Amino acid sequence: MRDLEQQKGLQSIIDDIYRELTPRLGEGRVADYIPQLARVDARHFGMAVVTTGGELYRAGDAEVPFSIQSISKVFTLTLALGKHGENIWSRVGREPSGSAFNSVVQLEHEGGKPRNPFINAGAIRISDLILAGHTPKELIGEIVRFVRYLADDENIVIDHEVARSEAATGYRNIALANFMRSFGCLDHPVEHVLGVYFHHCALAMTCSQLARSGLFLAAGGTNPLTGHSVVSRQRARRINALMLTCGHYDGSGDFAYRVGLPGKSGVGGGIMAVAPGKASIAVWSPGLNDYGNSLLGSLALEMLAARTGWSVFGP
Ligand code: DON
Repeated sequence: MRDLEQQKGLQSIIDDIYRELTPRLGEGRVADYIPQLARVDARHFGMAVVTTGGELYRAGDAEVPFSIQSISKVFTLTLALGKHGENIWSRVGREPSGSAFNSVVQLEHEGGKPRNPFINAGAIRISDLILAGHTPKELIGEIVRFVRYLADDENIVIDHEVARSEAATGYRNIALANFMRSFGCLDHPVEHVLGVYFHHCALAMTCSQLARSGLFLAAGGTNPLTGHSVVSRQRARRINALMLTCGHYDGSGDFAYRVGLPGKSGVGGGIMAVAPGKASIAVWSPGLNDYGNSLLGSLALEMLAARTGWSVFGP
């Protein structure tokens, strides 16, 4: 598509998707195991697309902040790779788990080493790795600054109510962290590691902010809007590969089949997806499918990929 046609085309594609999905708003199940998330109105729907050329297209609640939850694991993985390089792979695997995001079963079989950095156990281990040399408070500050730098937006904050709500009820994650510690697979105290983990999951962002923060992954590691070089081309490719294979937990195969883009979901109902060389996309709809991924968000991305021809597997 030529530039002008592309601009008109993309806006009308996402307007159509929003209109076609409107009758279905509210479908799916809002996560309720974190009490603060259960309060969110299931009928929200937002979508933002930022192209590598710098144009922003929006529909619905694209400017309403929501809890990004596991999408934050992409940012902490990027930080961990920056701090420790490829050494992280001796501590965390990079294979799809085929298990639920909060599953404990594989950990026992595999001696406390999480399958990948996106399941909860893996992200908790990543929080532990990036804690080296920091207090939890310093590290949480560093993560927020990093995400603001990626999105080029100083207004991004953590929703402390959500962090507190999860800390008060996060029995499964507390179990996962203690289990890893029992295998000698955590370097820092469980409370410190989980403090970091719960806070980065509680980052509140809009679809527009999230789409901009993922743009470096669509553009070979450098954010074309700011010129900030975030990671090398090779690293951007590799993070995208992990998002494609592991970003939707045991629903990753289904998402790759239907959408064909690297993506990372969060239990708040957000998904960040990357069309390499083309655009970064964020969608938000709080109702989840059986895998814990946004039901209408996945559908919106399936429609977008089909109508733009952006699948990494070919147009
Ligand atoms: O640890 C948890 O359970 C949440 N803070 C994050 C889980 C999540 O977002 C799973 N995503 N679909």
